[in-house]
Amino acid sequence: MKKALMIAAALAITTTAAAAGKLEIFSWWSGDEGPALEALVKLYKQKYPSVAVDNATVSGGAGTNAKAVLKTRMLGGTPPDSFQAHAGQELIGTWVVANRMEDLSSLFKSEGWTKVFPKDVVELISSKGGIWSVPVNVHRSNVMWYNPAQLKKWGVSAPKNWTQFLTTCSALKAKGVQAPLVVGENWTQQHLWENVMIGTLGAQGWNNLWSGKMKFTDPRVVNGFATFGKVMDCANKDASGLSWQQASDRIADGTSAFNIMGDWAAGYFTTTKKLAPNTGFGWAATPGTTGTFVMLADSFGLPKGAKDRGEALNWLKLLGSKQGQDAFNPLKGSIAARTDSDLSKYNTYSRSAARDWKSNKIVGSMVHGAVAPESFTSAFGAVIDQFVASRNAQGAAAAAQQLADRAGVGN
Ligand code: GAL
Repeated sequence: MKKALMIAAALAITTTAAAAGKLEIFSWWSGDEGPALEALVKLYKQKYPSVAVDNATVSGGAGTNAKAVLKTRMLGGTPPDSFQAHAGQELIGTWVVANRMEDLSSLFKSEGWTKVFPKDVVELISSKGGIWSVPVNVHRSNVMWYNPAQLKKWGVSAPKNWTQFLTTCSALKAKGVQAPLVVGENWTQQHLWENVMIGTLGAQGWNNLWSGKMKFTDPRVVNGFATFGKVMDCANKDASGLSWQQASDRIADGTSAFNIMGDWAAGYFTTTKKLAPNTGFGWAATPGTTGTFVMLADSFGLPKGAKDRGEALNWLKLLGSKQGQDAFNPLKGSIAARTDSDLSKYNTYSRSAARDWKSNKIVGSMVHGAVAPESFTSAFGAVIDQFVASRNAQGAAAAAQQLADRAGVGN
């Protein structure tokens, strides 16, 4: 009897050892950005208890730092098992064209994903006959955040276009608000720039810029740069040292009236700061973009040569599942990329985003990798820095066109 038990125990140990594995996932969701990802990791561990998950993160909003580290790892031949990348040109223009990613078409087929993800989203992650990543969410980037009680106190409301915005900015300055708008480090200024541009050119004009039909040197784009300069005059002077979270804090604490940021800010307000939608924070489409939804999607791919390929495939399956998406997104501030998510799990802000996602015109974000290749986006930061210092709209437009030509935008 004793012997039989010992054999059984030994067998159990062998089975566990055989099943044990590991998985390294790589992203920029650390600290305040972490809870949604941690919820997914928790689910993964429940499903695959014997797999040790290494949740590797390189902090820094919009992945500015993480993307650089990823590059050294990819080029050095030590890719993580699965990594975060924006759906669209960011991944396709870098690691897909370099033939470093696995085609996930068969996974999409076996999981039935071509039916549950919107057609446009599947198109965004497809090229050369392959599907290259699994989108875990849809974020909206054209949102203007404010503190409802503060706006009431100041007697202003959310401006509907950029002309109104500048008038509201003057009114607030006259009331002693030093920085009616809060912005943060460089990428958040690019984020603001893209919103000014979409609000100026309209959805079609924005699309024309990325399809090559409209040049950056077009007078309408030059005009957009000039407006962006005036909008920056409404902003805080210490922008370059602020993270997006610190910028959001200045809305919550009433220092500034407006912040233009993606709806990860809603995740931060609700999950981290425990503020309630509509009372703790308010939102509106950024000036000039009502009826347009500027989208981006966080997705994960499978690099060729991933050490733990099987575990990574299971990770991707979870990311694309209804259960995974509805665990992740209510904490993240985004909505599910899947069309069948359970909206009762989401707050008022997210439900409004889900409605707009269905009814609005959809365009892609440049800063967050949907419409432009990484070679454009990573170099565009310098154009913004230079413009903010010089306010030379013609010069910035010409520099942007040069970058677009070099990056093959519109080809
Ligand atoms: C975006 C990303 C979001 C959020 C944000 C701030 O690029 O898609 O999920 O992480 O950066 O870091």
